[in-house]
Amino acid sequence: MAGRIEGRVAIVTGGASGIGRATARRFAAEGAAVLVADRNETLLAEVAGELGEQGAPVVAEVTDEASVEAMVSAAIDRFGKVDVAVNAAGFGTYATIAEHPVEEFRAVLDTCLTGVMLCVKHEARAMRDAGGVIVNIASINARVPAEGMAAYCCAKAGVEMLTRIAAIELGPVGIRVAGIGPGFVDTPLTAFTQAVPAIRDAYVAATPLGRAGTPEDIADAALFLVSDDGRWVSGDTLYVDGGAMHKGYPELARIAAG
Ligand SMILES: NC(=O)c1ccc[n+]([C@@H]2O[C@H](COP(=O)([O-])OP(=O)(O)OC[C@H]3O[C@@H](n4cnc5c(N)ncnc54)[C@H](O)[C@@H]3O)[C@@H](O)[C@H]2O)c1
Repeated sequence: MAGRIEGRVAIVTGGASGIGRATARRFAAEGAAVLVADRNETLLAEVAGELGEQGAPVVAEVTDEASVEAMVSAAIDRFGKVDVAVNAAGFGTYATIAEHPVEEFRAVLDTCLTGVMLCVKHEARAMRDAGGVIVNIASINARVPAEGMAAYCCAKAGVEMLTRIAAIELGPVGIRVAGIGPGFVDTPLTAFTQAVPAIRDAYVAATPLGRAGTPEDIADAALFLVSDDGRWVSGDTLYVDGGAMHKGYPELARIAAG
């Protein structure tokens, strides 16, 4: 039986780990060829091994426009076109605004917001003749403020707005742009919570469905959005979070202080 995105070519940034990696696997299982892009060369090699002929790794730094352009060219060179892109590269920092080193603040915005803009720019250029779908990974923190996470929250709020604007600009040339806002998902990004059970428990308690998300929970939503099932969705960010958007964010500083 044909897969749900059989024959399509996808780029997944942040594809070497966590949500991006699960998405790359899911897309390949549904028949796509996947260019897996990441700055972590060691993990990239692992993913490439998993995907075999259906995958190709490329070292990419999403804050660097030349690198993003080369990433898109690599997809075209290897697979002939780009139909789908998922922009998942990202990370956060923890510091109150009064204590925030500006270099760290800029670094988060640079990867999580400017990096997504650069990816959308070059992915859209590759798609504008034949159309396509772009999914930007935001976070519930696009809407839910968290103390100590100003850089990340501001960047993710920016991603949600960028997604809306890109949908308006690119819809007329047949490109859909949507977002996903994950809640608390078990990935290497959140692995530190394994060592701090009080924080992990607080995240789970703040999630009405009562568990952490898995990378596959997010990959399945990405598959819906990029497949024909999502054909009338553009501009929206789908929150995939076990309901956490609707409850308060854990008070990390108070919990960490014991
Ligand atoms: N895990 C969660 O709870 C959670 C919740 C909400 C949103 N998110 C978002 O999901 C996305 C994926 O996160 P994850 O949890 O899978 O994290 P992860 O750390 O497992 O994976 C992120 C990947 O992005 C890559 N990356 C980071 N900066 C990069 C850059 N500048 N250029 C190229 N590659 C870069 C890393 O090398 C890594 O492989 C991120 O945008 C994150 O903000 C995660």
